[in-house]
Amino acid sequence: MLYGMCHMINKLEKIVSLCKRRGFIFSGSEIYGGIGGFYDFGPLGAELKFNIKQAWWREVVQMRDDVVGLSAAIIMNPKVWETSGHVSTFSDPLVECPKCNRRFREDEGHKKCPECGGDVSSIQARRFNLMFKTFVGPAEDSASLAYLRPETAPGIFVNFKNVLDTTRIKMPFGIAQIGKAFRNEINPKDYIFRSREFEQMELEFFVKPEEEYIYFEYWLKERQDWYRALGLNNFRARAQEKEELAHYSRATSDIEYEFPFGWKEIEGIAMRGDFDLSAHSKSSGQELAYKDEETGEKYTPHVVEPSAGVDRLALAFLCDAYYEEEDRVVLKLHPKLAPYKVAVFPLLKNKPELVEKARAIFKNLKTIGLNIAWDDRGNIGKRYYSQDEIGTPFCITVDFQTLEDDTITVRDRDTMKQERVSIGEIKNLLEQKIK
Ligand code: GAP
Repeated sequence: MLYGMCHMINKLEKIVSLCKRRGFIFSGSEIYGGIGGFYDFGPLGAELKFNIKQAWWREVVQMRDDVVGLSAAIIMNPKVWETSGHVSTFSDPLVECPKCNRRFREDEGHKKCPECGGDVSSIQARRFNLMFKTFVGPAEDSASLAYLRPETAPGIFVNFKNVLDTTRIKMPFGIAQIGKAFRNEINPKDYIFRSREFEQMELEFFVKPEEEYIYFEYWLKERQDWYRALGLNNFRARAQEKEELAHYSRATSDIEYEFPFGWKEIEGIAMRGDFDLSAHSKSSGQELAYKDEETGEKYTPHVVEPSAGVDRLALAFLCDAYYEEEDRVVLKLHPKLAPYKVAVFPLLKNKPELVEKARAIFKNLKTIGLNIAWDDRGNIGKRYYSQDEIGTPFCITVDFQTLEDDTITVRDRDTMKQERVSIGEIKNLLEQKIK
């Protein structure tokens, strides 16, 4: 058991090291010593996150005719947050050690201070609101106070009427959004799992009140199918206990992934009822209801909300894809998620005829919308291993035979097998394999 735990923690350390070494993830503001709970995504991390978002947007918005997209502002009128209940209830219990003044989240089960070991069992926790505050305009007073959004969802609720009035969408329908969210977490931890700035991919799916549960089940299945299609292995669905539910939720099921630090939520599917639309309708004085044109029936829709975090998903996909096999480390990322889909190599970099041919293939493949890597350093074996480590599914090598018969070798990351194909066939072959 102990060996198992050490092994898992060790695995996370290895992933953190790989992410830094190969340019997936850096500590935020690193040259100034970092800043707790903030991370920067390097060239490969930016691609990975982009691919996750693109796969989600394609599936949840573009492939459907009952969901439209939105991109709302991060900073909204503070009344939004008063109405949504975030000002009064979006908080965590905070304990302060009387001996060393270290502050930490109470629900981490500490009876002793994690810093100095002092007894904190009798300390009464106080509520700490997780919203970051800022000021809009030149005055720093209560009239100019604003919040960085802690979830993207309210941007959707306040635009419900705008979307209804400007599209032909009919119930049931959804509005989806991808964007940054900010939470002043008391203890950011587990690498990028719990950070203070992250991205969310949220869908608010509006339904007839009596159909809420049907769509809750429907989205729970849809979302699991999406993870499965992207090759994620160690995940499960778990219904939240009553005391875990957010203030707006009637029921929530989490999709959890088995990280090296345990089973943790990567996405929540919640039944938000009419909590948000009713509250914003009352508070703003604007009617946020739906009128069925055929029956004349008017009602406040209920909402089913699948909400996932891009950064957590990136970490889950990285952990799931990480393998050590004999003398190589390989990220078996789904081709759709891999930062580079293909790497192109000339066998030798000091042979202009090989380089020229390889460059032409490299340029040509870029035109079909694939992100392609170029590598001409060292020997071919090292180049393969270098691409394995960042998850590139295919490597193409241009060698002397290419100059004779216009064929190249395509090497598969997972099987390490090579096949010889003609240059004319590569596009089709890759498109097939990547889809
Ligand atoms: N609108 C619903 C909502 O925000 P949530 O469970 O608080 O629900 C949804 O957050 C998702 O956002 C989580 O499943 C997680 O993937 C991501 N998330 C939440 N807090 C996070 C944090 N501090 N760091 C990274 N991701 C976070």
